[in-house]
Amino acid sequence: MPRKGKRWIFAKHFDGFPKISDMRLEEFDIPTLKDGEVLLEAEYLSVDPYMRPYSARLQTETVMIGQQVAKVIESRNENFPVGTWTLVSSGWTTHTVSDGKGLIKMPLPEGVPRSYAIGSIGMPGVTAYFGLLDICTPKAGETVLVSGAAGAVGNVVGQIAKIKGCRVIGSAGTEEKCEYLKELGFDEVFNYKTTKNLDAKLKELAPEGIDVYFDNVGGEFATTAVLNMKLFGRISCCGAISGYNLKEPEKLSAIYGKMVFSQLKMEGFIVTRYQPRWAEAITALAGWVKEGKIKVREHKTDGFENMFKAFTELFTGANTGKAVVKV
Ligand SMILES: NC(=O)c1ccc[n+]([C@@H]2O[C@H](COP(=O)([O-])OP(=O)(O)OC[C@H]3O[C@@H](n4cnc5c(N)ncnc54)[C@H](OP(=O)(O)O)[C@@H]3O)[C@@H](O)[C@H]2O)c1
Repeated sequence: MPRKGKRWIFAKHFDGFPKISDMRLEEFDIPTLKDGEVLLEAEYLSVDPYMRPYSARLQTETVMIGQQVAKVIESRNENFPVGTWTLVSSGWTTHTVSDGKGLIKMPLPEGVPRSYAIGSIGMPGVTAYFGLLDICTPKAGETVLVSGAAGAVGNVVGQIAKIKGCRVIGSAGTEEKCEYLKELGFDEVFNYKTTKNLDAKLKELAPEGIDVYFDNVGGEFATTAVLNMKLFGRISCCGAISGYNLKEPEKLSAIYGKMVFSQLKMEGFIVTRYQPRWAEAITALAGWVKEGKIKVREHKTDGFENMFKAFTELFTGANTGKAVVKV
């Protein structure tokens, strides 16, 4: 009898907020290994907001995309003996047969929780590192605004900005998240959901204006933030989660005069462009985590069968810190 694995199939393109009927959890037969192949068993799987916009390009009836921490449990490849811990982008599946291509050996030292490799010392951390330092070049004393600040990317952005000597303002969707940001050392925090007048709030917290805006959310929040930038301000367009489930995201034109007359720089980016410099970011992030300068919080969901729930909770704001699923 072949052994069985489990996987989540992307059955139907999302229309608005993802529905459980758009996905299917199924069992599959794990194939016998050929020469050069390994069998991986997932330990932690990542759920990320990008999966929602990227899914528009996915073929239906394929495994949902994503990265995971997985262990080699059978091997016919001498480069990856049994027991090797890896990172693999094989999607929402408990078991993966790999020929070794694209398989990454766990980049974190012993003693560091492995799940950090898909969080603060992984893709979201690297996004924070380059999106802030490379795109916005913050200087000590400057005012940095981060939206989605209590999430996987946002909390690392804020902590790096503090390391660089900036004054950091963070916004998040609950009082509890705001408390967490205060504990991390953010100078000013506010709950954007209970803020009646965002423009007035930003003018109160940054009366001279904002030098750097790290945008995780897009939409009206981002528009108001841009309108509060200082001369020569820099804006990193990292994400636009406020629009991911909208059928028709708003068209915005209010910022363009401001962009010109305040001579702003706004740049979108996808973290994979930094692939050649990935190790630089991982080394810096791991060092800061070890020194306690970056504190890590995770939002762990138990059970592979809860992948879809963990994914949709990103859009209701249930997570503080990086959302991961433990198989
Ligand atoms: N450019 C890149 O290469 C790259 C890489 C990774 C991530 N990203 C982007 O970065 C952003 C953050 O990603 P993440 O992995 O760190 O996720 P995350 O922040 O850990 O989780 C998503 C958070 O977004 C907030 N949110 C949900 N709906 C919202 C809405 N309508 N308006 C405002 N905030 C909303 C929620 O927090 P609240 O409770 O505060 O609302 C939620 O907890 C996303 O936009 C993502 O697509 C981009």
